[in-house]
Amino acid sequence: MTIIVTGGAGFIGSNFVFHMLEQYPDYRIVCVDKLTYAGNLSTLKTVMDNPNFRFVRADICDRAAIFQLFEEEKPDAVVNFAAESHVDRSIENPEVFLTTNILGTQVLMDACRKYGIGRYHQVSTDEVYGDLPLDRPDLFFTEDTPIHTSSPYSSSKAGADLLVLAYHRTYGLPVTISRCSNNYGPYHFPEKLIPLMIINALADKPLPVYGEGLNVRDWLYVEDHCRAIDLILHKGTVGEVYNVGGHNEMRNIDIVKLICEKLGKPESLITHVADRKGHDMRYAIDPTKIHRELGWLPETKFADGIEKTVRWYLTHRDWWEEIISGDYQKYYEKMYGDREQLPIG
Ligand code: NAD
Ligand code: TYD
Repeated sequence: MTIIVTGGAGFIGSNFVFHMLEQYPDYRIVCVDKLTYAGNLSTLKTVMDNPNFRFVRADICDRAAIFQLFEEEKPDAVVNFAAESHVDRSIENPEVFLTTNILGTQVLMDACRKYGIGRYHQVSTDEVYGDLPLDRPDLFFTEDTPIHTSSPYSSSKAGADLLVLAYHRTYGLPVTISRCSNNYGPYHFPEKLIPLMIINALADKPLPVYGEGLNVRDWLYVEDHCRAIDLILHKGTVGEVYNVGGHNEMRNIDIVKLICEKLGKPESLITHVADRKGHDMRYAIDPTKIHRELGWLPETKFADGIEKTVRWYLTHRDWWEEIISGDYQKYYEKMYGDREQLPIG
């Protein structure tokens, strides 16, 4: 079995590559990644010499390169993680989100059609469902919740999902889609909430919480997400969407306070700053379908997962210090430099 994993030099894609090489020693894993600011070859250094692994630097929008790769590899399946993934960046510059997330998906599926692939799996997000109100804790996203996006990022992911389902209905492409909640764990890029707060706290820098920090996210340890995709790939029903999440809702402010506690840093580092435009209030997944049909359950409790994650950042300083020494500084200055501070707390 040969599987093309796109975006495998990013956060979740790399964890999936490690998972698959470990679980299936007879599979060939071909990672395709453009190595944007979010992709790091150093992340994959432990598998580069594995004879079952190949890395190809390519843009999923580059039709010639992608078709050439399919011609060479004749893959059995494709798992598409490649995406522009950061909501804040999508607010600054939506265009590349539409290009990579929608047109890139189309190129991959066109190649799948031409080469008669066994499965195309689209890694999507709970953000396609929009948000839930804070005062209705009884509400959860199911697979039947209408698509109702808020940000250019989530709109581009929703556009891709619709295209994936259209390729199934129109051309009979054997597709599956997973819509997962917020992931955390090793190799999470430092612009996202949890790694940003860990890294800033370690440097005694301000911890920029958007607004009051009451927004709720449903956090899942990345390895649990990888196991869910593995199950869907092997046992999922073609044409179906599966929600993935572990009923682990937390307010941003509580996550940041917990990180302060774990690192022995004062909560006075917390700085409330101007809110994100269009900021989604609450995400919460109902994972009943994947549990009932495929037997999936999360294995890592948040208390253990966050402990492992904090420890990982403490013991992998080389990985993130290299990242934050480059263009990241410019990004940080642009996003946070002049940001209004709010008199909260
Ligand atoms: P990430 O930003 O860490 O990684 C994205 C990877 O895709 C990077 O390696 C980047 O170089 C690569 N890439 C970007 N554009 C490309 C292109 N045009 N061609 C080839 N490669 C390209 O993202 P992530 O957090 O690992 O997310 C992976 C996928 O999972 C995304 O599709 C995202 O929408 C989805 N997702 C993420 C989360 C989360 O909490 N991070 C939750 C649910 C779903
Ligand atoms: P993020 O990690 O960007 O994921 P997403 O927007 O896809 O859920 O953000 C998680 C939450 O943390 C979100 O509500 C925005 C908030 N946040 C902050 O308060 N401060 C920050 O500096 C960042 C990056 C995020």
